[in-house]
Amino acid sequence: MKRERLTIAAAAAFLLLSIVGAAQAQSMKIPKPSEGLMPNPGRGKALYASHCSACHGADLKGSDKGPPMLHKVYEPSHHSDVAFQLAAARGVRAHHWQFGDMAPVPAVTPDDVAHITAFIRAEQRKVGIQ
Ligand code: HEC
Repeated sequence: MKRERLTIAAAAAFLLLSIVGAAQAQSMKIPKPSEGLMPNPGRGKALYASHCSACHGADLKGSDKGPPMLHKVYEPSHHSDVAFQLAAARGVRAHHWQFGDMAPVPAVTPDDVAHITAFIRAEQRKVGIQ
């Protein structure tokens, strides 16, 4: 009887641990562009126009729905390229601005996001954000 209870407790503990482990692995998965991809700002420009400009502005200066990307808060040392991958894949909880949350953008692949990020970085450099 006692041994049976122990077995059940051990099984329950094991189950719980594997659920927690799976959840952690899931949340730590960062989308990565293909190996050897050469991010292309030209392609990124077109992708940005279709998927991001409605909120972040055609000129990257923001809109009434989202913040400007030509802003010091989005310089590479504050928002790395990984932040762009995570934003597109998972969305963003409002924390810097008052526009509300950003929904995920499932239409873009990690490769698309790498091109978009290259475009945004090039535009940021033009105005001295680097
Ligand atoms: C529907 C509007 C909307 C669209 C479309 C959108 N964004 Fe956003 N995005 C936002 C808002 C709003 C925030 C600001 C959240 C906050 O308060 O920090 C944001 C924040 C971000 C951030 C900052 C993330 C962070 O960690 O703080 C990045 C990077 C970003 N967006 C990239 C993109 C890219 C790339 C696209 C296109 C693939 C895109 N966004 C499309 C609304 C949008």
